[in-house]
Amino acid sequence: MSAAIINGKQISEEIRNSLRNEVEQLKGQGLTPGLAVILVGEDPASGVYVRNKEKACHDLGFYSEVHRLSADTTEQELLALVDKLNHQQDIHGILVQLPLPPHIHEKSVIDAISVHKDVDGFHPINVGNLVIGDDSLLPCTPAGVIELIKRAGVEMSGKHAVVIGRSNIVGKPVSLLLQRENATVTMCHSRTNNMKEITKQADILVVAIGRANFVDASFVKPGAVVIDVGMNRLDNGKLAGDVDFESVKEVSGPITPVPGGVGPMTITMLMQNTVVAAKRLHQQR
Ligand code: GUN
Repeated sequence: MSAAIINGKQISEEIRNSLRNEVEQLKGQGLTPGLAVILVGEDPASGVYVRNKEKACHDLGFYSEVHRLSADTTEQELLALVDKLNHQQDIHGILVQLPLPPHIHEKSVIDAISVHKDVDGFHPINVGNLVIGDDSLLPCTPAGVIELIKRAGVEMSGKHAVVIGRSNIVGKPVSLLLQRENATVTMCHSRTNNMKEITKQADILVVAIGRANFVDASFVKPGAVVIDVGMNRLDNGKLAGDVDFESVKEVSGPITPVPGGVGPMTITMLMQNTVVAAKRLHQQR
């Protein structure tokens, strides 16, 4: 029997509907959440992401600014813009689209974003707060993964969660968030020996290794929840996840498709983070 599909597009729409209502209420109290996005250079994929963020802001009633800078922008010029936005009262979230051109030091730019406006959750202080379990702005894709698991009605407490991938953007933070939900977490990565022996013990399997169709049915315990964070562009132009959906769905429990699973959640969680940041900054004023 084929598994239930976790519909990220629909769940994302539900969250956006409630955010839209919340923004309308906040506006009534004189607070319009504001997001600034900075894009340096002409990377086509980044261009698409930035346009989608701009559209989401418009759709939810946010104030938004998009700063499109040429590829030869200096690090100093970029840092000066970040500093200006850090002090701008109508901006509550700042996102610098990555990757940056090679002559700009990504870490210097991330470190320069105000911790309170770091809606990507990439600033080392927000990462540190995540590790120790303090309040912080959470990285969007990992937060989206947890939200999908919750909204699929899956209890995480006491379960064995296995994460494949150890990136700073997904693997590491999603492992911490699963632990926060009281799951027992094992991390696997490209150098793990006998990976299938480990993944076959997972009640919840989160895959973020960045290799198309890497996980097939032989990795998966019958009935396990499978969350696919992969987004790999194939030679034929199609998008493929890290999970071979067709074979895995025949053995797994609830599973996310690609596209239409984790993908739509990332921008939705960015919007949610911006509302959270706006409310916190507003209270401090
Ligand atoms: N580029 C690809 N994904 C992301 C993301 O989540 N945040 C930023 N800032 N850049 C990205």
